[in-house]
Amino acid sequence: MFAPATYRSRRRTLVEHERPDSGLVLLLGNRRSPRNYVDNPHPFRQDGTFLYYFGLDRPDLYGLIDLDAGASTLYGEEATLDDVVWEGEQTALREDAAAVGIDTVDPPSALDARIAQARQQGRPVHVLPPYRDEHRLRLETLLGRPHTQLDDAVSEPLIRAVVRQRSVKSSEEVAEIETALERTAQAHACAQERAIPGASEQEIVGAMTGLLTTEGSTFSFTPTCSVRGEVLHNHSYPNTLEEGDLLLVDAGATSPCHYAGDVTRVTPVGGGFTPQQRAIYDAVLSAQTAAINAVAPDVPFIEIHKHAARTLTEHLIDLGLMQGAADEAVAAGAHALFFPHGLGHMMGLDVHDMESLGETFVGYAEDQTRPDQFGLHTLRLGRPLRPGFVITVEPGCYFIPPLIKQWREERRHERFINYERVEDFLGFGGIRIEDDMLVTEDGARILGPDIPKAPGEVADRAGSSRAA
Ligand code: GLY
Ligand code: MN
Ligand code: MN
Repeated sequence: MFAPATYRSRRRTLVEHERPDSGLVLLLGNRRSPRNYVDNPHPFRQDGTFLYYFGLDRPDLYGLIDLDAGASTLYGEEATLDDVVWEGEQTALREDAAAVGIDTVDPPSALDARIAQARQQGRPVHVLPPYRDEHRLRLETLLGRPHTQLDDAVSEPLIRAVVRQRSVKSSEEVAEIETALERTAQAHACAQERAIPGASEQEIVGAMTGLLTTEGSTFSFTPTCSVRGEVLHNHSYPNTLEEGDLLLVDAGATSPCHYAGDVTRVTPVGGGFTPQQRAIYDAVLSAQTAAINAVAPDVPFIEIHKHAARTLTEHLIDLGLMQGAADEAVAAGAHALFFPHGLGHMMGLDVHDMESLGETFVGYAEDQTRPDQFGLHTLRLGRPLRPGFVITVEPGCYFIPPLIKQWREERRHERFINYERVEDFLGFGGIRIEDDMLVTEDGARILGPDIPKAPGEVADRAGSSRAA
């Protein structure tokens, strides 16, 4: 946790500078999520916005900020004797509250009365979009609306205020992200060392899990660790690695204050790229380098996405997979057969930072229209970059058999795609290379320690523990 002053200052900024309106801001902390009964829960994960303003990593809390009085209240139950018997001694809620700069603590039942009073007085109650059913049900009771009709109750001014504030990371937040990336780097080294024929995806995930647990960390999202890298978010690990496979690992760790890392590396199993693999690897790395060099304040990220797409397309034209003019092919969206996702996203307390508030609020300026072209439609971040933004840069190139089949049958973009040549790459898998960057006043920098990605370096790392 940061010092109390950090949380006080964040709440004060919301009240004084980002002020969504008058009234109350109600932030719902997360509850425990039971596997089958309440005392057997999934690992607890606190809501990102609650963590940002109230800092406490403890279930069943509510935070209230009175925009007119400038005062904050924490609502929660003190641990009962039963809780202490089963879970051990816990700090008093009042002590927890003091650690985040809050003096007033009340039981959850008092929240009902406070919200009811505000509604009677006609004061706005600002809430964020609920993304868990338990929040929908709680808001149903508090706001007196059916849980199926909460969309109109959500406060757009609050969403916009929170996004403005959370988008710009302070130096202590950046330091947390760098800590997450140190652990992320260790996890990637651990995976790369195990990229040898006969190893299984499952044991590599197990080794990374063990390492992060030992460090007191966790994954910031369910990792991809697969020789089937063409499945973009592949969360199954059934394969045994074979010589000639490419192992794609997309994994990130969390920091002590729950900030995320998010990095992707691809390693040739056994240490050697085939010429075909090397050509696609070079294409993706060159697209990523072009994008990284373009990251700077005021540049719209959608333009950097298109720049990466054009760079990739130029390589694919050289390889005979595409044809025609690269800029025309990208404008038409033909490259999305190979690169069907966005170049990156915001990252912070959430790996896809703040996306529960709505991707478009987070990723697009009010005067931008989010594109709906296939491929571009999943670009979650398109807005002009500002100093303090932390973003990912993660181009990829994939050979996805069902997508290729459908486009070929439709003869989609056949002016730009050489489907005969594409057939030679079926079974290739996919390559993505991802790093996390901080936008600075005069440019940008890659965050965290160097995680090798030059083709010679990743090849050398494959199975390096065996050589040691
Ligand atoms: N790890 C998910 C992503 O890169 O967006
Ligand atoms: Mn990732
Ligand atoms: Mn990412």
